[in-house]
Amino acid sequence: MRILVTGGAGFIGSNFIRHMLRTHPEHQIVNFDKLTYAGNLENLRDVEQHPNYRFLAGDIASRGDVERAFELGIDWVANFAAESHVDRSIEGPDVFLQTNVLGTQVLLDTARKRWLPSPIAPETILERGERRHLFLQISTDEVYGSLGPEGYFTETTLLSPNSPYSASKAAADLLVRSYHHTYGLPVLITRCSNNYGPYQFPEKLIPLMITNALEGKDLPVYGDGLNVRDWIHVEDHARALDLVLHKGQPGEVYNIGGNSERTNLEIVRFILRELGRPDSLIRFVRDRLGHDRRYAIDSSKIQRNLGWTPLRHLEDGLRATIAWYIENRPWWERIKSGEYRHYYQRMYGGK
Ligand code: NAD
Ligand code: TYD
Repeated sequence: MRILVTGGAGFIGSNFIRHMLRTHPEHQIVNFDKLTYAGNLENLRDVEQHPNYRFLAGDIASRGDVERAFELGIDWVANFAAESHVDRSIEGPDVFLQTNVLGTQVLLDTARKRWLPSPIAPETILERGERRHLFLQISTDEVYGSLGPEGYFTETTLLSPNSPYSASKAAADLLVRSYHHTYGLPVLITRCSNNYGPYQFPEKLIPLMITNALEGKDLPVYGDGLNVRDWIHVEDHARALDLVLHKGQPGEVYNIGGNSERTNLEIVRFILRELGRPDSLIRFVRDRLGHDRRYAIDSSKIQRNLGWTPLRHLEDGLRATIAWYIENRPWWERIKSGEYRHYYQRMYGGK
């Protein structure tokens, strides 16, 4: 199959591409990425000469760019491309709607026209069990909103997104669903919890805290630090997506989670302990607007139906991730010394 991986130069997309090239010599990968501030071809240096890999610069919200990609003969789409940071969506939602909603619609529309010259009943695709064409939407548990101390998100939990980021992802999910229901496009949707691992942009909690601690800077914790996230190693996510593409039922949603709920303070204190730095580096700062209190995923459906299970234990995975950031200092120092510095000043300067 020739797989169009959009957003493949970002954190999860680049880890997914590496996983697919390693485990599926039968597939060709086209990495289609706009290379925004978060896209970095250095994330894929080790595979850029791989015979089954090629890069194509482009914007998912541009019909011309997406048409050019489909001219290569695309069988499957894995849509990772997105604006992905909640804090940036609070500062400026426009680009989130442009990329996450309109971009997804352009991809869906192009796939529909190329793959389904005439509409086909979704039941027909299911009956045939065909995997000739697939559109995988990589979504997030944040579309479900926020949980209290009890309970879990299941695939049937009502969508109640709280940030412009999660609202744009929820809108995209619903568009993907509608293209299946209306046109019979063979789609799959996954909703995953918070990822961590190598190549994560240092604006997100874990890489920000590791790199700040390495630089001897303050660690800015929002509010009381007791918000809970369910952490999953990015390689466990990549394996789950691989399985959904090969075995998932078109039209279905699959939750993916790490079964590793921790408060932000637990994560930050663990990182400080591992690096031998004092807790006094923690600086409590003004809370994020509309900050979701707790996310927790029930991933029993993918475990039961597709036989997936997360393999990386959180503390081991975190130790390996800390080691990666220590060994790859030039990778994140280049990022932190560029445009990102102005962002950091803007976001954290007055808090
Ligand atoms: P990221 O910000 O690291 O990467 C996003 C990539 O998309 C970048 O390479 C960027 O250049 C590219 N991109 C942005 N706009 C584009 C456009 N208009 N056209 C083409 N490419 C564009 O994000 P990530 O953390 O790797 O997340 C990838 C996907 O997974 C996103 O859809 C996100 O919503 C979803 N997700 C992320 C997490 C997480 O914890 N990071 C969890 C669940 C789901
Ligand atoms: P983040 O990595 O931005 O992921 P998300 O908001 O998509 O879950 O943040 C994870 C948690 O860490 C979230 O509760 C916000 C908190 N956080 C901080 O306390 N300080 C920070 O500087 C950042 C970036 C996040």
